[in-house]
Amino acid sequence: MQIVLATHNRGKMQEMADILGHLPIKLLTLEDFPEIGDIPEPGDTLKENAFIKAETVYRLTGLPALADDTGLEVDALNGEPGVHSSRYSGENATFDDNCRKMLSELDGLSLTDRTARFRTVVAFVTADEKTWTEGVVEGTILDHKKGDGGFGYDPIFYYPPLQKTFAELEKVEKNSVSHRGKALRNFCGILEKRININSSQT
Ligand code: IMP
Repeated sequence: MQIVLATHNRGKMQEMADILGHLPIKLLTLEDFPEIGDIPEPGDTLKENAFIKAETVYRLTGLPALADDTGLEVDALNGEPGVHSSRYSGENATFDDNCRKMLSELDGLSLTDRTARFRTVVAFVTADEKTWTEGVVEGTILDHKKGDGGFGYDPIFYYPPLQKTFAELEKVEKNSVSHRGKALRNFCGILEKRININSSQT
């Protein structure tokens, strides 16, 4: 079985490949389909956007497609930027632009008022199946960037149980506690059942 990971984000691709690596499937990415450009994300929810990406890639490749959509929900901002996280500081915003805008919006708030969570929805689309899973991790937005790893908002997302930002965690550590890791492990459970059912029918 082959699955196309419906993302152009190398950080995400690597995390998804690491978490799904033990399954008996061949993972392709959008780098294998350079004709597929950026896929618009017009949905109002993470679930809608994840399905738009997975359905688009399934339609264009004819192969099972897996997409994730992630949002950072900050309590002091009433859950924003949420589904708007990638364009938080405008179209073509860089990871650094978005982190800087977040730090400035929360300027002056104490740590206890900076609670937030990453939420990921993973959508999987094949000829005969559409399924989705979710993963959430709770943390706090620091008042400065810390750490060089990860991507996106990782340098400002502090994870209290490990007393580090996500940008300070080793890849394996981040995957073991992260929103994406949780959503993908839930998805692995579904896929493993599907693979077992198919192999017991042959
Ligand atoms: P999307 O799922 O690619 O639309 O991601 C939305 C925004 O959240 C982008 O700015 C990403 O960089 C950011 N993001 C997604 N996943 C993560 C993560 O694991 N850590 C930090 N930022 C992330």
